[in-house]
Amino acid sequence: MNRRDFLLTASAAAILPTASHARDHFELIAEPVEAQILPAGEYSATRAFGFNAGLPGPEIRVQQGQQLQVLLRNHLDEGTAVHWHGIRLQNAMDGVPVLTQDIVDPDNTHSYQFAPPDAGSFWYHSHYLSHEQVARGLMGPLIVTEASPPDVDHDITAILADWRLDQTGQLTDDFATTHDVAHAGRMGNFARAFLPDTSLKKGERIRLRMINTATDRVFPLNLSGLNGKIVALDGMPLASPREFETIDLAPAQRVDVIADIETKLEIAMATQGGNYLLGQIEIDGDIEPRANPIPTLPPNDVPQPGEVTQDLVLTMQGGAMGGRHGGDNIWAFNDLSDLQPTPFARFQRGETARIRLVNGTSFPHGIHLHGHHFYEVQDDGSLGDLRDTSLVQAAETQDILCVFDNPGKWMLHCHMLSHQVGGMKTWVEVV
Ligand code: C2O
Ligand code: CU
Repeated sequence: MNRRDFLLTASAAAILPTASHARDHFELIAEPVEAQILPAGEYSATRAFGFNAGLPGPEIRVQQGQQLQVLLRNHLDEGTAVHWHGIRLQNAMDGVPVLTQDIVDPDNTHSYQFAPPDAGSFWYHSHYLSHEQVARGLMGPLIVTEASPPDVDHDITAILADWRLDQTGQLTDDFATTHDVAHAGRMGNFARAFLPDTSLKKGERIRLRMINTATDRVFPLNLSGLNGKIVALDGMPLASPREFETIDLAPAQRVDVIADIETKLEIAMATQGGNYLLGQIEIDGDIEPRANPIPTLPPNDVPQPGEVTQDLVLTMQGGAMGGRHGGDNIWAFNDLSDLQPTPFARFQRGETARIRLVNGTSFPHGIHLHGHHFYEVQDDGSLGDLRDTSLVQAAETQDILCVFDNPGKWMLHCHMLSHQVGGMKTWVEVV
């Protein structure tokens, strides 16, 4: 397959997430789908997994604080479970087999109910054999809207994903090969952004929510055709909007941009061979641009760190070129691979902990904590961004500060899903 062919022809048109519905009852049917991942006309559809006949799954849009009920129906030939990534919800709704619920068997259903406390860009995905089920397409956007949303002409979700396809456009089934797991993960040979089928006018203001749903790929994103700022990361508003330069978006991370359209919008990934176009939206007409500056989103009500009562170190180990480690799988945290019977740490509800994430490996890792957001601590010791997934580059260290205020058993794992299946996962308990 020639990536250049895709580069030249991949337009935004191929697949649309199902239209949004402002309602609080949803049904998600996990099922095999035929999805037009590659450009329509030239390439056949890809047999994949999806929700409600589509891929990505339908956009679930709910207002902040509104009670949401989602009935999952499993029409696959294998088990599944759905995790609501980044949502600070009750533990029982977290969608993690064994830790928080049973696997949903074929032909069975499971009901999820929660009221998302934070407005922002989130997503949902399978948390059962996720390195394979997410790569096959079991994911979709979960958008939580502010009570009074910022003034924009379009609110656009871009689902970023990559796919490993054979000559006929079908997914290869080489999941979790030792080589992929021990290196940077299972990278696709085709990548794209799923965008709505719409056009823009020069001068319009848009909110663009980019969600990295790839199993393993960090997207170095470049945007062109607009002038604006980053307003949120991982669903959490920035205290003040930030200039958009190339941003490395790790698997599961999100970035929201509010910007004014100048020319055709292009979302691209930087590669050694130049920009690889992921998606674009054409221009059709123009309007008078707004004079007011890019707005700051209202902050979410997250707990502020108190006195640090536990100081912990989580060292990532293993992989190729990583030397020896004590875990019994390819990757480990602190000499242990896979979920152990006892948690990495136990917290009294409300405790503030500092966790030093030490990357002792030769690869980047995106470390994700369920049920909470945490602050990345900056080099000068001040609080940085509030995230649910932190990208830690090879041989680097990142301190995070977290208020563990959500009772239950929460996974803490690498969101490079090939690393997760290779053992880089643990859990914490809040009592
Ligand atoms: Cu996005 Cu443990 O997951
Ligand atoms: Cu990793």
